[in-house]
Amino acid sequence: MEVQNLIDLSDITREELKEIIDLAGKIKANPKDYMHACDGKLMATLFYEPSTRTQMSFQSAMLRLGGQVIGFDNPQNASVSKGETVADTVRVVSGYTDVVVMRTPVEGAPLAATLYSKAPVINAGDGGHLHPTQTLTDLTTLTYEKGRLDHLTIGLCGDMKNGRTVHSLIRALAPLEGNRFIFISTEELQLPQYALDFLDEHHCEYAFASDLESVMPELDVLYMTRIQRERFASLEQYEAQKGVFVLDAAKMAKGKEDLLVLHPLPRVDEITTDVDKDKRAGYFKQTEYGMYARMALILTVLNKSGKKEEIEVPDGVNCRCHNSRCVTNAETYLPQLTYVKEGKTVCTYCDSPIEE
Ligand code: NCD
Repeated sequence: MEVQNLIDLSDITREELKEIIDLAGKIKANPKDYMHACDGKLMATLFYEPSTRTQMSFQSAMLRLGGQVIGFDNPQNASVSKGETVADTVRVVSGYTDVVVMRTPVEGAPLAATLYSKAPVINAGDGGHLHPTQTLTDLTTLTYEKGRLDHLTIGLCGDMKNGRTVHSLIRALAPLEGNRFIFISTEELQLPQYALDFLDEHHCEYAFASDLESVMPELDVLYMTRIQRERFASLEQYEAQKGVFVLDAAKMAKGKEDLLVLHPLPRVDEITTDVDKDKRAGYFKQTEYGMYARMALILTVLNKSGKKEEIEVPDGVNCRCHNSRCVTNAETYLPQLTYVKEGKTVCTYCDSPIEE
């Protein structure tokens, strides 16, 4: 049996994605039917970076399926604080468990972990790179609250540069027919080039806006995001960006009647609390869909995936890419993994160009 990892949603087919979303709906409707679906199974949560929702929704998901959970959420309490590599941690933990869930500030670390893991690995967010289970949550919410994943005008507002939820969501929605994006942010926090390239490759229409109010009437979905303070080089740089875009009741008044407002949470100051009582505010419902979506994902991964008997790591020279947050710069033993895009050699771990 193959090991089914989930590093990016592109690891599964559109059909499989649809099946997971359908299953999430069934579990939500009849949770009791799935209470013992993962009896005897053990999940590890390796959280190298703070998280409330993602970690707790993964834990609740596994416990509600009858499985059990081990892990850490404070790397200071784990051997990583003694200098252990991701490879060694994962090698050991995947020997104990049936599925490994990993959240890390290091981009590409979950992909690196798959090389050394006997069990399937799920990426619960890697730096500013990807966050596929948040996207699964978002797609599940859109399916059940909006009734479709296509022909949507989606406003993405806030930190387009560092927001991994944004990058993953674009990858999922850009290929679908009739979707159109409006990126509402400051120039400094606009989307990275690879995300724009992806949109172009998929002939997806997009526009930029520097003002939220004026685009409100066009939107079917407004996806608000937090300015990612932890990814800024200095507090001054963060302060300059904070509070630029704030959704409040006055701006909501300009939105369509069936607008859906989403936010991966946590919110800081980008949505005022007077928006919470608006029926178009979907962000708290979204967190619940997230748990059901993760239940469906865990179940699917465990049903489809076995464990590797042996770990065979490909040989290769170490590579360093331009991206200082890439795992290849932090964990220098890793084999080189690259692909070529438009004549450029790109790092498979973090999707950034390799330093020649
Ligand atoms: C997001 C994340 O961690 O990237 N949160 C989450 O997973 N619910 C968004 C954020 O932290 O801003």
